[in-house]
Amino acid sequence: MKKITIAIDGYSSCGKSTMAKDLASEIGYVYVDSGAMYRTVTLYALEHGIIKDGQIDEERLSSEMKNIEISFVFNPERGRPDTYLSGVCVENRIRTLEVSNHVSHIAALGFVRKEMVRQQHRMGKEGGIIMDGRDIGTTVFPNAELKIFVTASPEVRAQRRYDELTAKGEICNMADILRNVEERDYIDTHRDISPLRQAEDAIVLDNSSLTIAEQKAWLLQAYQKAAKD
Ligand code: DC
Repeated sequence: MKKITIAIDGYSSCGKSTMAKDLASEIGYVYVDSGAMYRTVTLYALEHGIIKDGQIDEERLSSEMKNIEISFVFNPERGRPDTYLSGVCVENRIRTLEVSNHVSHIAALGFVRKEMVRQQHRMGKEGGIIMDGRDIGTTVFPNAELKIFVTASPEVRAQRRYDELTAKGEICNMADILRNVEERDYIDTHRDISPLRQAEDAIVLDNSSLTIAEQKAWLLQAYQKAAKD
C-alpha cells in the first residue's frame, strides 16, 4: 500500500493523540503530536521569564524562536514519541495545567505558527506520517489523503484530562479543567491565523461514547480505504 499522509484535527483532549499513536504503531507510520510543539514553545517561554503575569513578551519570544529546536524520540515503554527541546526530554513538563493555561495564547502568534509549520513540513516530507493538531488538514497538509475531524462533548473531554492529570499525581479540580477546555476551544476556533475548523474533505468522528477499541477499529478502516484509493 502507498504511504499516505494522515491529518487528525479536533478539539483539545478529545483523544486524538491516543488514536493517532495507536494507528501509527499498527501501520508503522511516524506519529507527530503538533500540540506538543506549541506546548514546548510555551514551556520555553514560561521557564525563560518570557511570560510574566500572563503577559507574553512577543518581541523576545520572536527573537528566541531560533533556540527552540523541537524533536521527537520514540519511547518504547510508552509506545509513543517523547518530546525534546534542544535535546532534553520535556514530555512531562509540557503536560501540566500551567502550560495548558498559556498554550492557546502562544499558539495564536503568527511567528510561532510559521516556525512550527516549517518544522512540521520537514517532518512530513516523506509521507507515511500521522500528525494531529488543529490546522493539519487545513493548513499544514491540505493535500493529506486522509483527514479526520474529531469531536466529543466538553464534559467528556474535561473528564479525560482530569483522569490523565490525577493519574500522574497532579492535584487538580474538575471545574478548573472544564473551564480550561472551554477557554481553549474558544481561543483555538476564534484566532485569526489557522483557527481550528473542519476541512471540507475531512471525515467527522464524534467519540463521546466510543471505547478506545471501537475508535481504533474505525480509524484503521478509514486508513485502509484511503490508502487503497
Ligand atoms: O493538542 P493539545 O491540547 O496538546 O494542544 C495544545 C494547544 O496547542 C491547543 O490549545 C491549541 C494549540 N495547537 C494549535 O494551535 N495547532 C496545532 N496544530 C496543535 C495545537
